[in-house]
Amino acid sequence: PLVSLREVLKKAEEGSYAVGAFNCNNMEIVQAIVEAAEAEKAPVIIQASQGALKYAGLNYIVSLVRAAAESTRVPVVLHLDHGTDREQVLKALRAGFTSVMLDGSKFPLEENIAITRQVVEIARPMGVSVEGELGRIMGTEDHIQVSSYEATFTDPEEAQRFVRETGVDALAVAVGTAHGVYKGEPRLDFERLKKIRERTQIPLVLHGSSGVPDEALRQAISLGVRKVNIDTDIRIAFLKKVREELSSRPEEIDPRKILGPAREAAREVIRHKMRVFGCAGKA
Ligand code: G3H
Ligand code: 13P
Ligand code: ZN
Ligand code: NA
Repeated sequence: PLVSLREVLKKAEEGSYAVGAFNCNNMEIVQAIVEAAEAEKAPVIIQASQGALKYAGLNYIVSLVRAAAESTRVPVVLHLDHGTDREQVLKALRAGFTSVMLDGSKFPLEENIAITRQVVEIARPMGVSVEGELGRIMGTEDHIQVSSYEATFTDPEEAQRFVRETGVDALAVAVGTAHGVYKGEPRLDFERLKKIRERTQIPLVLHGSSGVPDEALRQAISLGVRKVNIDTDIRIAFLKKVREELSSRPEEIDPRKILGPAREAAREVIRHKMRVFGCAGKA
């Protein structure tokens, strides 16, 4: 069934594990995510990015995830990833999303607090949870000088104020991860993560988690990360299989013969993540 993020995070908090938040763009990926959740008996968050909404359309995303959630006994959260503004959040709420992120991280602190709080005020009465972002989680393709890199990280004191004044249910933090494929291995600022958690006492969200070694993910989770976002690793597994299938059978004319195996490959990557996050067996 479709449930709210709050419900899922509450249990994750009690059990000190993280729930995987996997990005979907099409039917095969939605199915891969839910099949993985069923196989691992894990609660799961399916999220739609700005790109996903543009590619598939809001209604298709909602319909696909609803169909998936109705067909399973594991809890499924439908989450808006990097929501841009109040209007988009409202649209998502009306369409049936059970959780939303308002990403105000590009704004100065005061403004980020103001718009995030507005969204909390709208979502809370509907039983919908809100994720905010403080600090800037970059893309691996974004060019930023090493000297100014740490300036994009979340400040623990600001985080304390942000959480207190907005009332968010979860906080996305910038502690060294980035969206996309890393050049080399990412280095996470665990000290900072620990301080943020001590000061905020709420579930933290790790974005850009594809390409982060399992051990680093486990450590982040031990320090209070309760939602781990994965997109790129699914894309890589899916397309790797598509390429293999296409090159081994260049005469193939049935898309299902290519996309079916790709869906299975995505499912296996997701299952592995669920075991690392500790959410396997918790549904
Ligand atoms: O939000 C980050 C996602 O991993 C990628 O977003 O679907 O807009 O490319 P996109
Ligand atoms: P990756 O693509 O690096 O896994 O990041 C996903 C993400 O943070 C979505 O919000
Ligand atoms: Zn993200
Ligand atoms: Na990444």
